[in-house]
Amino acid sequence: MIEWARWMVLGLSVVASVATPAINEIRPNKPNKPGRFLSLPVPQKCSQRPKEFFYRGHNYFYSGHLPQYRNTKLDWLDARNICREYCMDLVSMETQEENNMIFRLIQQNDVPYIWTSGRLCDFKGCENRRDLEPKSLFGWFWSATRVKMAPTNQIPQGWGYNAWSQSGHKKVPQPDNAEFDINRTNESCLSVLNNVYNDGIAWHDVACYHEKPFVCEDSEELLNYVASTNAGIQL
Ligand SMILES: *[C@@H]1O[C@H](CO)[C@@H](O)[C@H](O)[C@H]1NC(C)=O
Ligand SMILES: *[C@@H]1O[C@H](CO)[C@@H](O)[C@H](O)[C@H]1NC(C)=O
Repeated sequence: MIEWARWMVLGLSVVASVATPAINEIRPNKPNKPGRFLSLPVPQKCSQRPKEFFYRGHNYFYSGHLPQYRNTKLDWLDARNICREYCMDLVSMETQEENNMIFRLIQQNDVPYIWTSGRLCDFKGCENRRDLEPKSLFGWFWSATRVKMAPTNQIPQGWGYNAWSQSGHKKVPQPDNAEFDINRTNESCLSVLNNVYNDGIAWHDVACYHEKPFVCEDSEELLNYVASTNAGIQL
């Protein structure tokens, strides 16, 4: 009961900067899974989490490099939840240096695509946020850290390039919400695609039900939470 109450407090802080992550996301193609939630961290998994590489105080891993996930492709929320059980979350590339590191991982290992924590704020809690309009320019954020992204049509401050692809299914700059035109499915999640549209390695908006390998990154919030509720745990 106390555990849950503490979690709720932690969970509510989520609303502050952007909005709650994609909880209660409904997948029309899986009617038996109507309500879907973010997973809680599992202390034992956190202390034994895979640490493939390390950057600026955070551990990371690419799912394709772990035997247990080598052939696993998951939709965006399921991928997030795998990470979260390890006190990690999908990767957030808030700086050019970190983005370059992820692009290099994709290039050197010939990875076709990955999920990141990038998300469009188009769910419950994002209404009446004029600062997020128009959504295609101002509505994107890193759900793992709830940091807002730069406007999608601009080079972010401190960067030398815009990581969003200049091309895609519609041959226009990303995000283009292309699948909405095909069958009314919104492209609300951010994937890095490796030259799928002859456009090099770049960011694309993609419908969240697609199944992809993923990169997990330490979540300070979840690590701190597990550390504070499990005295003496090694993380
Ligand atoms: C999906 O995209 C369309 C077209 O951009 C937009 O009008 C609609 O509001 C979006 N749906 C949601 C749930 O955001
Ligand atoms: C929408 O179209 C894409 C691309 O053709 C397809 O992969 C996907 O299954 C379709 N989704 C639905 C809900 O029809």
